[in-house]
Amino acid sequence: MNIDYENLMNKAKEVSKNSYSPFSRFAVGAAVLTPDGKIYQGCNVENSSFGMTICAERCAIFKAVSEGQRIISAIAIYSPNSDSCYPCGACRQVMYEFQSDDEEIEVITENMGQLEINKLSYFLPCGFKI
Ligand code: THU
Repeated sequence: MNIDYENLMNKAKEVSKNSYSPFSRFAVGAAVLTPDGKIYQGCNVENSSFGMTICAERCAIFKAVSEGQRIISAIAIYSPNSDSCYPCGACRQVMYEFQSDDEEIEVITENMGQLEINKLSYFLPCGFKI
């Protein structure tokens, strides 16, 4: 699949502005690309009961899945508060669930204005699947 990484990162940047993060003050945006070319955006949503917080990545993935998607081709992740905003362990496993058997998910991050592109297995070797 031919992926416009720059565009996907711009979608992650755009949605990071909607982050609800009054407690950590750490905003995150994520944009998920599916094989049909659609893009689903998500941001982190925190809660006064801290454990109820959802990460941007899972917000975007669950939006895609709830719209009927089952495969993720790529995900871009952005935080205005940090270079290279890498996905947390929980989100890595959730990405793994929706990876195609034929092609690995590409994970796009940004470091000092430069895009970094890695396969999901770089972040999560030996993911769990039933
Ligand atoms: N967060 C994400 O949204 N994605 C990540 O990959 C790391 C952490 C959020 C959760 C919480 O709202 C804030 O960042 C600080 O942990």
